[in-house]
Amino acid sequence: MNEEYDLNEINQQIYNSERELNNAVIEINDVCNFRCDHCYLGVKKNKFMSLDLFKKIIDQLYDLGCLSILLTGGEPLLNPKFKDMYLYAKKMGFLVSINSNGSILTDDYLEMLKRYNPYAIEISLYGYDEESYKQFTHSSSYNEVINNINRLKSNNINVKLKTVITKNNYKYLDKMIKTSNKIKVPFRYDYIVFPEVISKGHENSKVLDPYDIIKIIKKDKRSKAYFNDKIINLMNNDTYHVFQCLGGEQSIYIDVDGGINMCVALINNQYNINNISIELAIKKFRDFKNNLLFKKDDKCKSCNKKSICRYCPARFKLETGAFNKCPNWYCQLADLIINEYDTFECNLTESILKKMFEIVSDNMSKLYNTKITDNDYKIWSNNVKDNKKLKTIINYNEQLNGYLQYINFNDEKKICICEVEIKDDHQGDGKTFKKLMVEFLNKHNGKKYDDYFVYGNISTSNDHSRDVVTHLGFKSNDGKTYSIKISELRLKYLKTEKQ
Ligand SMILES: C[S@@+](CC[C@H](N)C(=O)[O-])C[C@H]1O[C@@H](n2cnc3c(N)ncnc32)[C@H](O)[C@@H]1O
Ligand code: SF4
Ligand code: SF4
Repeated sequence: MNEEYDLNEINQQIYNSERELNNAVIEINDVCNFRCDHCYLGVKKNKFMSLDLFKKIIDQLYDLGCLSILLTGGEPLLNPKFKDMYLYAKKMGFLVSINSNGSILTDDYLEMLKRYNPYAIEISLYGYDEESYKQFTHSSSYNEVINNINRLKSNNINVKLKTVITKNNYKYLDKMIKTSNKIKVPFRYDYIVFPEVISKGHENSKVLDPYDIIKIIKKDKRSKAYFNDKIINLMNNDTYHVFQCLGGEQSIYIDVDGGINMCVALINNQYNINNISIELAIKKFRDFKNNLLFKKDDKCKSCNKKSICRYCPARFKLETGAFNKCPNWYCQLADLIINEYDTFECNLTESILKKMFEIVSDNMSKLYNTKITDNDYKIWSNNVKDNKKLKTIINYNEQLNGYLQYINFNDEKKICICEVEIKDDHQGDGKTFKKLMVEFLNKHNGKKYDDYFVYGNISTSNDHSRDVVTHLGFKSNDGKTYSIKISELRLKYLKTEKQ
């Protein structure tokens, strides 16, 4: 392998280059018709965001090249200006997703969503029948919610289900999975429950015991590949910065008062859109993160389990009162997971290896002007063939329809390029977006691109982590590949469209 370049450094460069605002979560009201026991909003202020404030936020996000927004609440569909807000953002070209409890879906809303598709509408499923639902939400809307999910689905709107697993509902998780299978809508769950976001040093009473979580994880077919992949990538992880995520830079959370926050778990009333721009707030977040360093004896500083334990200083602060002090729960869960998943087998075919190498070498030569030779491939493939570490990556890849996350080089080095293939049958705006980009390229570069793919990275800065596509890659007729940052294209292209 050519030793002139250091893959860790390349990885770091890619990581840094991706730190631009891609995603904003906007809490358009905290009013809600449910009273879920687990809700991080705690006692609500019963406020609605005004349309003027919303537009001010959207206009700034647009100018910053932000690609996607998530409208949340409270229950966002209760906002009397929801329709105006949604359409305003859609017409500006944003990928718009909605978080909802699914209880209110008027014909008018449905018509609008049919005509202007959301990227996704994610509905929380809080039970499997009327009784379980009522126990969790104190609402009798179960049947209505299921009916609304079916209405969305039958109108080809990209609807997904999710839930948070707490002490109160984990016993009927299987039944919720069955329900989602029956209505044929994708369902995901998360076992991270954090205390109310206004709390300081609050004990977390709702979260499940790690021993119960591991029982749930073990039943999930995808988890073996997922955790194997993480475990093999455990490296000496001596970190200096307490914050390792992209919160406050690649993603932000705007609360109902216009407060600009790093994420939902870090609400601190420090910056408000009425007196500081989003751009400046992001600079402040960056400075804050750059300056918040571990102390020598902090337990997490050199711990290599950060990718397993769901490490999150913001949540730690909610529970222990300090960013750099972790609750034992996280370490306990990480140890249980490692104990459970630390063995696997290898089965790599030549064609898979070739495909992987193609992607890596393509990116490296393109981004860093590095020549990669056939000999490089030979050395690399010999290395990885003996290396058990790749099997899980492929599994993961297959299960998630073409995600390729980490590629190991020479055992301990890795490159973090991630490919997200948006298929033609993809619902929502991915397809439209790609079409726009292709049109733009053809128009402006005078070349014809017949085959294209998309690079993306996964935004992990909040608990509703979703994939955010950041780069578009093209294979041109001459076989060469190019990648273009979508936010740059979007600014150039949609700015002219706006007038
Ligand atoms: C606050 S809700 C707003 C949208 C809508 N009302 C709903 O329930 O889906 C957004 C998401 O946060 C989740 N959530 C609420 N409280 C939480 C907590 N303490 N920890 C983790 N997730 C939580 C909800 O289950 C929901 O999926
Ligand atoms: S429906 Fe959503 S916002 Fe309303 S109480 Fe439940 S979690 Fe909170
Ligand atoms: S929370 Fe525990 S497992 Fe996670 S990084 Fe800190 S010490 Fe390691």
